[in-house]
Amino acid sequence: MSLILGIESSCDETAVSVVRDGREVLSNAVASQIAKHAPYGGVIPELAARAHLQAAFPTAEEALKTAGVKPSDLSAVAVTHAPGLIPSLLVGLNFAKGFASANHLPLIGINHFSAHIYGAFLEQPEIVFGDPALFPMLALVVSGGHTALVVVDSDGKMTLAGTTMDDAAGEAFDKAAKVLNLGYPGGPLIEKLSKNGNPHAVEFPRSFIASSGKPLAPENRFHFSFSGVKTALLYHVRDCGGIENISDAMLFDILASYQEAIVDVLCRKAFDAARFYHVKSVVLAGGVACNGALRERFAATIPAGCKAILPLKKYCTDNAAMVGGLGWHYWKNGVSSPLTLDAQARLPLNQVLPICFE
Ligand code: KG4
Ligand code: ZN
Repeated sequence: MSLILGIESSCDETAVSVVRDGREVLSNAVASQIAKHAPYGGVIPELAARAHLQAAFPTAEEALKTAGVKPSDLSAVAVTHAPGLIPSLLVGLNFAKGFASANHLPLIGINHFSAHIYGAFLEQPEIVFGDPALFPMLALVVSGGHTALVVVDSDGKMTLAGTTMDDAAGEAFDKAAKVLNLGYPGGPLIEKLSKNGNPHAVEFPRSFIASSGKPLAPENRFHFSFSGVKTALLYHVRDCGGIENISDAMLFDILASYQEAIVDVLCRKAFDAARFYHVKSVVLAGGVACNGALRERFAATIPAGCKAILPLKKYCTDNAAMVGGLGWHYWKNGVSSPLTLDAQARLPLNQVLPICFE
């Protein structure tokens, strides 16, 4: 039995978790900064870093206490070191370095993007990460920072199949909410209000064609673009005479149709890629994976013969259980990081995950 302490601070949640043997989450403490950033309609890196600094120690104490674990019971400390906001990452990374050195534990640097994929396997006993029947696997990672399709092979090799050429899907939700003065973060608000609207009331564009008006070139067909739908929303609001002339009923229809355009593109591209790469399973991951309309469409339209893997909602948005869980695989395979490990804003997505088939 091995216990890994996971630490996550790449954006605006300070999170610490204790995970047993890569799958059993003993604690999942998350200190959210949403209220601090909401007045600005987005995350302010300087504010985020200061809030992480205040929250790191109490959140770690809470995670250890809830798990009933002492530092001496731990086998390693896994921490997100990339990609993300540098000021935010630096706080969690340095906290992890201090904690690891003081307690003579190995430090394991984790890629936040890969951790999101791993989050889909937590507390789901019937789907085990590493099960050969699930590979090759396709992951659709949709968050505030990413929209990407990655093929994961049974040896842990990850190959990027498509990414966004402009905004991430979560950003498209957040920016739409800003345009309509709804608040931050936009995704959960838009999902809630959309429930009262007609998803086919407004025909928002889907980015299946290039700017030339022709179909996307084969090498680009799994890439995403959300700037067009965002601009279309802006024009629609302008054509309605501005937000002051939009009734509640109109707003609900606009939001439901906007959400529908995003969900439609995500599922159609992901499943086109699933067929192209002959994968056995498709994993949905990242904060946008909380979205009920996306989850429903994903489960209902996945190609026959592919298994749909949907994370529990608490492991979609940023958390440290996904970091501690994935960290166990590194620890089990004897992979650790030097104390000189640096934070990086970006990381290539083509990497190898040390998957442990135990
Ligand atoms: O994974 P995450 O917590 O942080 C990043 O790594 O970016 O994702 C946050 C993003 C935000 O853009 C937020 O609006 C979006 O996930 N999000 C949602 C929902 N819940 C969170 N988007 C759509 N529907 C939701 N229910
Ligand atoms: Zn994230």
